[in-house]
Amino acid sequence: MAKKKSPPRQPAAGRTITVIPGDGIGPEIADSMMRVVTALDLGLEFEVVQAGLEAYEETGELLPAAVHRSLRRNRIAIKGPTTTPVGTGHKSINVQLRQQYDLYANLRPIRLIPGVPSRYSDLGDRLDMVIFRENTEDLYAGVEHMVVPGVAESLKIITAKASERIAVTAFEFARANGRRKVTVAHKANIMKISDGLFIESTRKVAKRFPEIEYEELIVDNCCMQLVVRPTHFDVVVLQNLYGDIISDLCAGLVGGLGVTPGANIGRKIAIFEAVHGSAPDIAGQGKANPTALILSAALMLRHLKMEEAAVILQKSVADVISAGKSLTLDLGGSAGTEEFTEAVLARVRRRKSSLSRSRSSGGKTAKSAGKANGKTGRKTSTRKTARRATSRG
Ligand code: NAI
Repeated sequence: MAKKKSPPRQPAAGRTITVIPGDGIGPEIADSMMRVVTALDLGLEFEVVQAGLEAYEETGELLPAAVHRSLRRNRIAIKGPTTTPVGTGHKSINVQLRQQYDLYANLRPIRLIPGVPSRYSDLGDRLDMVIFRENTEDLYAGVEHMVVPGVAESLKIITAKASERIAVTAFEFARANGRRKVTVAHKANIMKISDGLFIESTRKVAKRFPEIEYEELIVDNCCMQLVVRPTHFDVVVLQNLYGDIISDLCAGLVGGLGVTPGANIGRKIAIFEAVHGSAPDIAGQGKANPTALILSAALMLRHLKMEEAAVILQKSVADVISAGKSLTLDLGGSAGTEEFTEAVLARVRRRKSSLSRSRSSGGKTAKSAGKANGKTGRKTSTRKTARRATSRG
């Protein structure tokens, strides 16, 4: 059978990005993210389409056709959180998008940003791991039913294909970024067949990457180890449900959901989104921390090979947080979304202009240019630089 031709890849500059603001705090943080990315002057366009409760009110559909058209056309999207009713109601929009577009890898970098209050602040750079969560199957397949009243059944679907694919993605990432170890968490002592197949698949992949240490931990022990010695972890591979739970646990290690970015990567389409949800408790009050979505945009820029811009964004957010003057409520400050955004915008402009000054003076102010490239004055090993350049949100 003849292979379907995919549309030609767009060059990064001049590219259009689909933006799905989402529900709850989504529109507030999406607005902040778009303003900050626009300030980078990258020639990117945003195409805003609505999905979720707001779209339902307007169109009667949670995922209107316009969203699908935009995603198929642009192939890169950034999304705010969408609300999913508990117990009843519609299937999660995220799960639908991840399954429909086969966004099989959910990548979530976990690292400390200086200035963010955390029980682990003293660990600094040493707390630095990347979670790879399988995004398309497991209990998220949504195959469940009531067998008889009072007895419910939910099927956990695990395939060798999806398990190997997420393991390959994680190992390739580890190899490309000088990471030393891949840890797989499972419950194959109890779910001997499904989790058994998962680790059988990851073991098979591990053999192809002999230079990278491979480790298996039972998931409950993994949670304890994450809390007791988080620096033990480097790259972590998880099934869908364990990945969901452990991502929030890890967000807690580095200061909470307000600062933890993420990406859903498929072969053709990628959707970037924060780990957190729609935060209905603070929605519409101007209190949300947009950091996680802004850092998700940095992951997106890196995916588009706009490394320098990604670093400017990341460092501008870090500058504002470490200065400590415009912290949002979740980080112990009193600033709202607007004040925080303005502070990040000011840093982005300052970093951009110092970079262009340095360029026009032929690199005489190399120190500031180096800073914008993610290098500090001190010596950094190639391995460490590679890790910084590619993995951190
Ligand atoms: P949540 O992540 O929305 O909120 C948990 C807590 O963290 C709340 O106290 C909230 O105020 C706080 N928080 C979250 N993000 C924040 C931010 N950026 N700034 C400041 N504080 C922040 O989790 P919850 O309450 O369990 O879920 C709410 C809704 O979000 C549910 O309908 C859930 O299904 C949905 N959800 C959507 C996701 C997505 O669209 N990717 C992911 C997770 C949950």
